[in-house]
Amino acid sequence: MTDHPEVPVIAVDGPGGSGKGTITQMLARRLGWHLLDSGALYRLTALAAEQQGVSLDDESALVRVALALDVAFEPTAPGEPVKVILAGVDVTREIRTERCGDNASRVAVMQPVRDALLQRQRDFRQAPGLVADGRDMGTVVFPDAPTKIFLTASAEERARRRYSQLKAAGLNVTMSDLLDEIRVRDERDMNRSAAPLKPASDAQVIDSTGLSIDEVLSEVLIAAGQT
Ligand code: DC
Repeated sequence: MTDHPEVPVIAVDGPGGSGKGTITQMLARRLGWHLLDSGALYRLTALAAEQQGVSLDDESALVRVALALDVAFEPTAPGEPVKVILAGVDVTREIRTERCGDNASRVAVMQPVRDALLQRQRDFRQAPGLVADGRDMGTVVFPDAPTKIFLTASAEERARRRYSQLKAAGLNVTMSDLLDEIRVRDERDMNRSAAPLKPASDAQVIDSTGLSIDEVLSEVLIAAGQT
């Protein structure tokens, strides 16, 4: 059982690009609840390993990196991404690169790395409530969460969204590369033996393909009984 079972959790799981990041930030702000971006912890583990010269194949060294992560999440203005600080350095942009995402997905297949990050994630469960964004929030990290959402969207739609985000950030990418990367990462995330990406049996599945952010947000609020 997880700590602080009395604190409500809205677990939002789903593949990258399903809109989870935007939705969970808006939800946390609207409700005045804490936010856990669990993907950032996997990205930070991959980045810290790279900085320390640790190979992504060295499982026990990666566990040490994950346990020792010196991380702070700092709130910013509405609509701005949360600031991510690693060992005193702002890495908000650095952890969002495709390369860091790909490395994160590689370290995330390792069960000992997942175990090393588990308690750190559960510690985010603080009053008045937590919105948790990830792949296994409803299945593993907060199995007793009163609200579990599985947010999905077609691979094409997710590639389109990612393309606009990256272009807006001034990065040079092509749609077909992004679509390939999304398919490879989906495959790895869904078919790994450690906490594969799948809806919890009691999750409500929301397909955001063709929906606006506001439409998705209102569906999630209804599902969470927070209207
Ligand atoms: O959501 P994201 O793109 O920031 O996640 C980066 C990688 O971390 C993704 O490939 C899957 C992995 N991940 C995970 O295995 N479990 C989580 N709870 C969150 C992310």
